Amino acid sequence: MCTDPVPVTIEEQQKRAKAFLQGTQKALPVRFFDTVTSTNTLLKQIAGPDLADGTTFIADRQTAGRGRLGRSFYSPEKTGLYMSTFKQTADAIAAVSCTTACAAAVCMALEEVSGKRFAIKWVNDIYLNEKKVCGILCEKTEGGVVCGIGINLRTPAEGFPQEIQHIAGAVDAVPDGDLLAGRILFHLHDLLEKPDDTYRYYESRMFLKGKMILRNGKSALVTGLDRDYRLCIRYESGEEEQLSTGEVTLHGALLSK
Ligand code: BTN
Repeated sequence: MCTDPVPVTIEEQQKRAKAFLQGTQKALPVRFFDTVTSTNTLLKQIAGPDLADGTTFIADRQTAGRGRLGRSFYSPEKTGLYMSTFKQTADAIAAVSCTTACAAAVCMALEEVSGKRFAIKWVNDIYLNEKKVCGILCEKTEGGVVCGIGINLRTPAEGFPQEIQHIAGAVDAVPDGDLLAGRILFHLHDLLEKPDDTYRYYESRMFLKGKMILRNGKSALVTGLDRDYRLCIRYESGEEEQLSTGEVTLHGALLSK
């Protein structure tokens, strides 16, 4: 019978925490699991005003990984980094700033450890070579926000399932996932204190800028991002619009998740 969650051994926990803490350079409480349903779900169960800021769960596999808009997140064994971290805050709109800070932090950390250049597809997906390699799900919860990050570190031996093959890719150049997790949290906690730096970096890595998208059947050019992280677009008629939510489809290719 499969119990949930399945923790790693104590020896493994100690060894992995070392690599993780080396990355964060901060004493964050971290727990490693072999298998969980979802690190977000698990962390939300214990979240509250008394939970230490930065409490982090990392799993090697999720049996019910969750994505945005009620979708599932494919989380096969030992090929990905599936992590959730708790940000203690009373701010009601914190989930939005956590999402953009997470995207910037993941992008920064991935570039650091892989030497490759990544892009952020508005609002919260990370792309490499036109493929999605990371998804982010920040959920408001009691006492704060649970920030969930899923990264495809390697291509699974059996390949990605057919329904996501056209969009999913892998980083394929990360020596240590636990160190990467530490670096992500290092940048996340730093960027949450520096909204201007976050905006500048996020803007510099925009995947959609200068590309044509389809919006309600009309094509439009993505001209940039305003300070509230709204996507600025210009239709062929010259009319302009700022999008605050929703998914965007690239003209000529189906790029929605
Ligand atoms: C998306 O692409 O829509 C967001 C995916 C977020 C996946 C991560 S993996 C760790 C954490 N646990 C979950 O169940 N989801 C997030």
